[in-house]
Amino acid sequence: MIALEVDNVDVRFGGLQVLTNCRLSVKAGEKRAIIGPNGAGKTTLFNVISGTVRPVAGRVVSFKRDITRSPAHVRASLGLARTFQITNLFGNLSVLENILLGLQALTRTKYVFYRMTSSFTELIGNAVALLRDWGLEGKKDHPVRSLSHGEQRQLEIILALASKPKILLLDEPTQGLSTAETGLVVPMVRSLEASTTVLFIEHDMDVAFQMADKITVLYYGSVLADGTEEEIRSDPNVAEVYLGLENHDA
Ligand SMILES: Nc1ncnc2c1ncn2[C@@H]1O[C@H](COP(=O)(O)OP(=O)(O)OP(=O)(O)O)[C@@H](O)[C@H]1O
Ligand SMILES: [Mg+2]
Repeated sequence: MIALEVDNVDVRFGGLQVLTNCRLSVKAGEKRAIIGPNGAGKTTLFNVISGTVRPVAGRVVSFKRDITRSPAHVRASLGLARTFQITNLFGNLSVLENILLGLQALTRTKYVFYRMTSSFTELIGNAVALLRDWGLEGKKDHPVRSLSHGEQRQLEIILALASKPKILLLDEPTQGLSTAETGLVVPMVRSLEASTTVLFIEHDMDVAFQMADKITVLYYGSVLADGTEEEIRSDPNVAEVYLGLENHDA
């Protein structure tokens, strides 16, 4: 079963073509990494999938349903959740207050649409159970800004997971984290249920390989390569782009 299909998507911002014939197909339960240089269009691809950017061509299909024109809240109600590249939490509010606010927004949109299987209390229960699983329960009443960056990222993932999404999009969940803090996030992604389809953007290729079943390499808005770790590591185009960039950076 294919959970998500991006089919020949083009995105333009004014005169700037950001995605060109972008395509990928992700099986249900797969953990897929999206890698690629800065500005390659990775976040834009997530915006197209979650419904905040409309493509000028192409389709987005989820579990056989064409969602290309569905608004973001409908996609959320169908089981699509995401986290953002830039932290979306309220630093002065407590962990629990952030959970209440985040989930309230979610149930409000869900209320209008179907999939009301999860009530607000059920969502809170899920989130609190996840806090416990990941050792954050003791920080429930602490202001979010007192949490480490790694813990804040964990909290964002917990918020996204509370609705038990079918598809989860994580935009650079390890960005700005130390190696030790990255170690908090990697097992979270690894331990997600086999049935949860995950797409995550990751800058560090080694971290991407640790968390993913398959990797898609985006380059100037198009898919340069798609495959398992072995296929990506032995792909001459990927080597050229990445080694080229590394030499350039050096
Ligand atoms: N709303 C927008 N309006 C105009 N240009 C945009 C918009 N969003 C993104 N862009 C441009 O589209 C290109 C791709 O951006 P995007 O954020 O998708 O890249 P990215 O691969 O996520 O990069 P990074 O690794 O830096 O996060 C960039 O040139 C960016 O400046
Ligand atoms: Mg980005």
